[in-house]
Amino acid sequence: MIHLCADTDIEDNSARGLQGEGYNLIAVRKKGQLYLYNNRCPHRGIPLEWMPDQFLDHGKHYLQCATHGALFKIDDGHCIAGPCANDKLTAVDFEHRDGQIYLVG
Ligand code: FES
Repeated sequence: MIHLCADTDIEDNSARGLQGEGYNLIAVRKKGQLYLYNNRCPHRGIPLEWMPDQFLDHGKHYLQCATHGALFKIDDGHCIAGPCANDKLTAVDFEHRDGQIYLVG
């Protein structure tokens, strides 16, 4: 398993990028629940952000792709608007252990 970060590194209603050898992920927390997705927009197969850790829309309700504005639900990665509507971000399995987050697989 790969260590990603401390659980406390991802504050509620925030998102950040986690990059390392072989992975580029979005970690996002909403209502205390943590979600992890591959940082790859299904429209063009590129990362969502232009600025580091800028993944959320203005209202912090959705993940937003900076290139063409696609909006993704935080809790399941489903695209609700934009050029890849009805596609989705790929969820990534992770594990909590002793206050740390690990990538599974
Ligand atoms: S590359 Fe993400 S919406 Fe086009």
